[in-house]
Amino acid sequence: MLLSNFQIPSNFSLIVPGDKSVSHRSVLFASLAKGESLISGFLEAEDPLNTMRSFSKLGVEFSKLGNGQYKVKSPGKLGLISPAVELDFGNGGTGIRLSAGLLSGLQGVDTQLTGDASLRKRPMKRIIDPLALMGADIQSIPGDGKAPLKISGKKLSSISYKSPIASAQVKSCLMLAAIASDVELEYEEDELSRDHTENMFRFLGGSIKHLSKTHFKIKPPFSFVGAKFQVPGDISSAAFFIVFGLLAKSGSILIQNVGLNPARTGVITVLRNMGGRIEVENERSECGEIMGDLRVYPSQLKKVEITSDLIPSIIDEIPILTIAGLFSENGFEIKNSEDLRAKESDRIHAMVFNLQKLGVIVDETKDGYAFNEINKINSALIESFHDHRIAMSFLILKTLLENEIKIDDDSWIDTSFPEFKEIIGRLKG
Ligand code: S3P
Repeated sequence: MLLSNFQIPSNFSLIVPGDKSVSHRSVLFASLAKGESLISGFLEAEDPLNTMRSFSKLGVEFSKLGNGQYKVKSPGKLGLISPAVELDFGNGGTGIRLSAGLLSGLQGVDTQLTGDASLRKRPMKRIIDPLALMGADIQSIPGDGKAPLKISGKKLSSISYKSPIASAQVKSCLMLAAIASDVELEYEEDELSRDHTENMFRFLGGSIKHLSKTHFKIKPPFSFVGAKFQVPGDISSAAFFIVFGLLAKSGSILIQNVGLNPARTGVITVLRNMGGRIEVENERSECGEIMGDLRVYPSQLKKVEITSDLIPSIIDEIPILTIAGLFSENGFEIKNSEDLRAKESDRIHAMVFNLQKLGVIVDETKDGYAFNEINKINSALIESFHDHRIAMSFLILKTLLENEIKIDDDSWIDTSFPEFKEIIGRLKG
């Protein structure tokens, strides 16, 4: 079995940056709400900053107060204006998909939304189709269901929609479209995807009628006023150091202020099932979200079955769970995860390709991959495929094994976790 000799320095603690999903949503809801808002704990990374820059072009004022705090002044949804320029969401799938919903429902506001080369390859049909059912005027400019998107905001119609995929981006896109346009939405998904949009909507005073855990209705009028948003730390960023703490030889890591929304904590469930010792301390609730501190201890991990109901809540953590699998008794298997092929990269291909470079024999399937217990890996040049989570996962592996693995381009980490390398530097002492 693969083992790490890494000794964590004593009393090692870290605070992960703000949650990416909640940061995007704080910009969108603060823009819809009339008056002044305060956002604290905002993730100052490229993806959410691009969403903020985009809404500043629609007439919302964001003033940086320092340390992740922003004062926001918005004329409210009825006062937003057509921007003079194209809105650029960079690498951010959440930014473009959620904004596309909101903008589709803003009467008289015309926009064009784009992103970097990787974002322009990602599927937008999953939002274009249901938005079109609401009567939205949204077009893929290249005509292939991908960005750039051209939107002429208008009054939409109410809709009842059963999503073919459990995607929080699709769900939130339609919720924001309904909220912007003041129409009714009934929405159903097979498994519960992250529910930060629902939580923020309720925090602002909205009411949701649940027909089941995964089926709900919202009804207008939706008129929000400015509020104080608190963004918890990102469990998807914490996941890299949870896995690090479990795989190290000795010591422990304290990770503070981590968002513990139950639709996001699948990574803790899976790692505990694998034998990981992760303790939650100081649990509390802010702005409709649960948060707490995590203490993680070195543990011997073993292979477990990861059932399909857990996939939506670990979808962003599968690359780093795979690194945990390299150190696990009996190996690792992930299945039912075809949507991994539509993330910042085709993450099934990216993981299989890089694992093979490291000498791991991997079986790739349409919706996942598997490998047996590993005893040794080779050094290799890892390809990040323009994907922050691929780069960070292999940097964790490199640090644990203190070996010669190299990463072709780790600049992508700035899209979600600019402090990542500094924390690795502190661990290495
Ligand atoms: C997100 C939802 C997930 C996730 C993404 C962030 C969100 O995508 O992978 O990183 O903030 O709503 P899908 O909704 O496409 O599964």
